[in-house]
Amino acid sequence: MDLTLRFRHAMLRRLMNAAGVVALAAPALHGAACGGVVVVEGDNGTGGAGGNADSTSIGTSFPVGSGTNSSGSGCTLTGSAASGGQAQATECIPPINGTCPTQYNATMYIVPSVACSYVVSVDCGPVPQGGSCCYMVTEEGGGCPGRPFIVDDTARSAEAVHAECGWSLGVLAPDTRGLDADVRRALAAAWTGDALLEHASIAAFSRFSLELMAMGAPADLVAAAHQAALDEVRHARICFALAQGYAGAPIGPAAFPFAGSIALSADLASFAAATAREGCIGETLSAIIAAEQLARATDPAVRRALSAIAEDESRHAELAWRTVAWAIERGGEPVRAAVAAVIAGAARYVPSVVVDTAIPPGILGSHGRLDAASARDAMARALDEVVRPCFASLLQVAPRAVVVASAAA
Ligand SMILES: [Fe+2]
Ligand SMILES: [Fe+2]
Repeated sequence: MDLTLRFRHAMLRRLMNAAGVVALAAPALHGAACGGVVVVEGDNGTGGAGGNADSTSIGTSFPVGSGTNSSGSGCTLTGSAASGGQAQATECIPPINGTCPTQYNATMYIVPSVACSYVVSVDCGPVPQGGSCCYMVTEEGGGCPGRPFIVDDTARSAEAVHAECGWSLGVLAPDTRGLDADVRRALAAAWTGDALLEHASIAAFSRFSLELMAMGAPADLVAAAHQAALDEVRHARICFALAQGYAGAPIGPAAFPFAGSIALSADLASFAAATAREGCIGETLSAIIAAEQLARATDPAVRRALSAIAEDESRHAELAWRTVAWAIERGGEPVRAAVAAVIAGAARYVPSVVVDTAIPPGILGSHGRLDAASARDAMARALDEVVRPCFASLLQVAPRAVVVASAAA
């Protein structure tokens, strides 16, 4: 079996186990293990009827957007300037199974061409163009891979500085023989970008720990959150070490821009929704992307880095699913509804990956980087095969857990 497929299957089992939905999720696991399309009943109690029309979509029932223009007629592919952090752009994708996805279903496949942005809405399309399916899309920044530190809907991270700053793990040195200066510079920039995101994840887990305490969470969740923050310190050091190895010069983070205060989630529903977005989706995609990178990497230092990161990110994803399951059990329907709203828009939170064209394709994979199309495909598979089935099972099971807990009390 393909290693990355095996990893996704293992992730699905781990996450469903973490969320406490293994028994009722058995059909979904069986479907995935047989290599077929995962079929999960709808989360609205209708038995999955009314799902979307694309044959590649899973059976989970999501609402079809009203007022959509699925034929693409009358859709003019013109962009608009950024406003309030959002901008309209034309995005084109290859046909899926020979046809263009509907306007609604296209959200599952479109990944913005601007780094760290995500799809807010697919405004019209498809418009066939040069063998591709094109759509007008509204996009917004703040969708970087991993667990972001979000402030006012925007991901925040430190700047990189050319100083070691005590953040490099000196034992990890990639083999740079045979790489020219431009390629080394591009690889250094790519790993620096990852390092800054890992560095921001430390802040995200520190805030998450405080929020868990504010919500009255049990000790095991608080302890796991602190452990995860320490994992992110190691990830940041690993990535800065690789960046430094490619650059041949020190690289580290500047002071983190907290700007004086850290806002916490106001209630359990908004906390669960943020955890679903940043942890259940962000960390699950992050683990699966790391596994995809590892499957291609040949450089020993890069492989060592990625195998540690893939395992840790899987555990962080488990923590997020456990936390959301706990929050739904604790808070009941309002929390469940807030989480359901996140999964309905899950495709929005699939980040874009932009690759420097200075890195030749053969070198890209062996040094642990994915090309944009591979990253997009990996994230689409992760959503379809892992995130959505797990959410669907969790949202079905959680209300029963509340009933059981109430009866026992
Ligand atoms: Fe990480
Ligand atoms: Fe993480």
